[in-house]
Amino acid sequence: MTVTIVGAQLGDEGKGGVVDIYGEAADVVVRYQGGDNAGHTVVHDGETYKLSLVPSGAVRGNVGVLGNGCVVNPATLFDEIDELRERGLEPDVRVAERAHVILPYHRVIDGVEEDEKADLAAGTTKRGIGPTYEDKAGRRGVRVGDLLDPGVLRERLEYVVPQKRALATEVFGIDLEGEVRDAFDIEVLFETYREFGERLAAEGMTVDCGTFLQERIDDGEAVMLEGAQGTSLDIDHGVYPYVTSSHPTAGGATVGTGLGPTVIGEGEVIGIVKAYLSRVGTGPLPTELGGVEGQTPDYDAETGADDDAEELATYIRDEGGEYGTVTGRPRRVGWLDLPMLRHAARTSGFTAIVVNHVDTLAGLDEVKVGHSYTMRTRDGEERTLTTVPPTTEQWARCEANLRTFDGWPEADWAAVAEDGWDALPEAARAYLEYVAGELDVPIYAVGVGPGREETVVREDPFA
Ligand code: GDP
Ligand code: IMO
Ligand code: MG
Repeated sequence: MTVTIVGAQLGDEGKGGVVDIYGEAADVVVRYQGGDNAGHTVVHDGETYKLSLVPSGAVRGNVGVLGNGCVVNPATLFDEIDELRERGLEPDVRVAERAHVILPYHRVIDGVEEDEKADLAAGTTKRGIGPTYEDKAGRRGVRVGDLLDPGVLRERLEYVVPQKRALATEVFGIDLEGEVRDAFDIEVLFETYREFGERLAAEGMTVDCGTFLQERIDDGEAVMLEGAQGTSLDIDHGVYPYVTSSHPTAGGATVGTGLGPTVIGEGEVIGIVKAYLSRVGTGPLPTELGGVEGQTPDYDAETGADDDAEELATYIRDEGGEYGTVTGRPRRVGWLDLPMLRHAARTSGFTAIVVNHVDTLAGLDEVKVGHSYTMRTRDGEERTLTTVPPTTEQWARCEANLRTFDGWPEADWAAVAEDGWDALPEAARAYLEYVAGELDVPIYAVGVGPGREETVVREDPFA
């Protein structure tokens, strides 16, 4: 049986923590898309693990697989594995031979293109994700399986690297100096990636993903599919072009692993929801509070937003730790956005949700949600929408119609988690019941703190 975990919003909903909790019953945890643009936090036995590529389940001894839908930076992969080993774990990680490889030139181009794009830039993580998926679709990519065969690797590099050099120097005007020169040097790339291939082979890490997983399912094993990013970052269903280049939605779980949709559809698809919104990057966000310079479109540092919104945003940002893990940049925050969640529930066919960060909102007098949007059309007409419009330009013309809920007080969250659903503050339950009712799905768990034990677990999807 499978359980698929999907981010319902804009990433960082707490997917890693949920994979850790429900992954206890799983034998295998598979990532089906994305690469080291993800940042999944697992707090386990008092230790915090931040994983960008290795599936979160590896922390508790599950077999971790990077599916064919992923883009793999072998340098990051081995760094993470080595660090986990140094910390006393024995991660068992497999990589799909069909997965595409992120090469150093992808990273260089990602960085430069973001600067070129100006207002169209998504604020990428500069990990080379977009350029690698472009090469995959352009049929000039290097796959993990190619690293195991030096002849094939050389042939692929000899075809693609001259094109990348021309793109870098002639289109983007990059000086190929030092490390940047090595990123476009066939011999350096060949030697480095051949060695990665040798290590993958020596550790027996590569698999034919779909076959590997199906055999385990046929043997009665439990497989968890771990999405990265979130629905509104999906290249088709998100805020294009301020999106990532893969499919975080549940359809990505089938194409990105080689398991059929009927196999995945037999299991549960659980949407992970943060009780408010956070966003790293640009694009419209109708329920945004305050704003962040350099990320909020048209943000005016002089006037900013109104003081109350700014104060609330700072409160939620500080309580929720909404600062970039690498750069420390403040994340954009906003109220929960129901049109975004209805869209997510439909695109992935959620069978249940988990709502995290309910503790973060504690202490506010009132909590708001964007229940619907009023979209002003080009002709000045107003339309009410209950889900997100298809174009980002339309989305930018949406204003959120807010509903107000009573706030809830701080609590001893570990005790609440132990005592269960009824121990949650009444106002928090009313809020959660509203969300579940609107999406017409049950809530399987509620996050009331970052730790594993700070979770109100109502259902185990593998049970
Ligand atoms: P992911 O990318 O979806 O796996 O989420 P991240 O790990 O990037 O971000 C979630 C952050 O919030 C992490 O620091 C978690 O430890 C933390 N977190 C997760 N759930 C909760 C919760 O219910 N309450 C609080 N306060 N923190 C949480
Ligand atoms: P997890 O798995 C939040 C955002 C970037 C940028 C856009 C494209 O931790 O939830 P990319 O580097 O993928 O080309 O960037 O997507 N982004 C994320 N935001 N959480 C993530 O992952 C993200 N991965 C990418 O900020 O706006
Ligand atoms: Mg994250």
